[in-house]
Amino acid sequence: MKKAKLILDKDYVISRIDPRVYGSFVEHLGRSIYTGIYEPDHPSADKEGFRKDVLDLVRGLNTPIIRYPGGNFVSGFRWQDSIGPVADRPKRLDLAWKTTEPNEVGIHEFCSWAKKASANVMYAVNLGTSGPAEAQNLVEYANHKGGSAWSDLRIKNGAKDPFDIKLWCLGNEMDGPWQMCHKTATEYGRVANEAAKMMKWTDDSIELVACGSSSSEMPTFGDWEYTVLSECYENVDYVSLHRYYGNPHNDTPDFLASTMDLENFIRTVASICDSVKGKKRSSKQINLSLDEYNVWYHSNEQDQQLYKREPWGTALPLLEDVYNFEDALLVGLMLITILKNADRVKIACMAQLVNVIAPIMTRPNGGAWAQTIYWPLQQASLLGRGTSLLPQLICEKQDTSHYTDVPMVDAAAVLHDDGSVVIFAVNRNLTEPVELECDLRAFGKFAKTSHMMLHHDDVKAINTETDPLNVIPREVPVTFKDGKVVLPPASWNVIQVIK
Ligand code: AHR
Repeated sequence: MKKAKLILDKDYVISRIDPRVYGSFVEHLGRSIYTGIYEPDHPSADKEGFRKDVLDLVRGLNTPIIRYPGGNFVSGFRWQDSIGPVADRPKRLDLAWKTTEPNEVGIHEFCSWAKKASANVMYAVNLGTSGPAEAQNLVEYANHKGGSAWSDLRIKNGAKDPFDIKLWCLGNEMDGPWQMCHKTATEYGRVANEAAKMMKWTDDSIELVACGSSSSEMPTFGDWEYTVLSECYENVDYVSLHRYYGNPHNDTPDFLASTMDLENFIRTVASICDSVKGKKRSSKQINLSLDEYNVWYHSNEQDQQLYKREPWGTALPLLEDVYNFEDALLVGLMLITILKNADRVKIACMAQLVNVIAPIMTRPNGGAWAQTIYWPLQQASLLGRGTSLLPQLICEKQDTSHYTDVPMVDAAAVLHDDGSVVIFAVNRNLTEPVELECDLRAFGKFAKTSHMMLHHDDVKAINTETDPLNVIPREVPVTFKDGKVVLPPASWNVIQVIK
């Protein structure tokens, strides 16, 4: 059997893990809101029209933060359309997704829903068709206690207490030509800086995320971050990264190696932040917000056809990727990469949460179920809290079509405050098991171990409304003998070593 060795020491630490790395994202796009989280006529709807079956699945992820309301959508969104009596709210064309936005759910409704999900809101302001003034007005509306025009309007609209939104995105993907009012790095950096100043002058307790690159493949990648941060370094707290992967050529080993690119992307952006810090002789460190990551490619063709048939609809089934088991493995590898970079990645949002490239699916007037990618996110979110340990991993490496020296096993380890350790490990090898020897000698004796595993013999296996438990984690009975554990081919493993 192939072998790998993982050495951990409680004194070899990457960083405390910011719980916000288990965040998610809800955009006014497709069926994310309408017939996703909100469907007033659904049998499970609560009195505000939110689906309780969906809320239960969301709660199962223990999601600390949810980015909202976009996405590309936000660059044309007038937030003022989404307040006041619902009957008076305008229907607007959304140029980002070529649909019609009814504005039935707005900031009041979303904040109420997020509270039910026990999540905080990460709100993105429009720095496309709108600018710093509208962003300032929104912070005043949302966070000021009262006694000013915007805060009093919030109170009049039914929310006596401020929403107290602590984390804000300064626009979305402003480097992308597909964005409404796309900008050059200098243009965006200046607007972001001015918006940031006014937003923080309104509420100095908030934190701000500046737009980084929409992907590491953007032609402006690198220059964009450097120029933007040169303009707004002192007034922002994080820079964003967005990254999606696909497997359109059915090359699974190469697909599962995609996190080599993610690792490189993260370390490069962190270096750029530090080079601007050096240039400015600043003592402040900018950290990273990976506020869109996932697999996204299954629905591309279907979406093109849909647009031809039904332009400008509402709640169209857009970006409805059906995720298979290999997608769950890649999501697991992405979570491992996030944990291994916990010193710089402080926020990460799986994009998205419901129906739109999502771990949770719904059928209008029907059921709600968890896709394959739900499970690694859930396990990491529930068990990956504490301190990320520096994993010394010794294993075979192999080349794939696009990557060299890809480790056969990837792993992250988390030390809980009670002294127990959780190891997340993926065996990328599709045909052979690997015996992983975990050297935990610095930890002393452990009372109990457990091993949960996500595996399916068919990497293309999926979950559906009628077969929702096809790909789910299962407890493996024989575990951790002499610190050794067998990782089956193509598997996501969660090994808990309890004090
Ligand atoms: O998450 C789907 C879309 O992907 C978002 O709207 C946009 O920010 C990104 O391009």
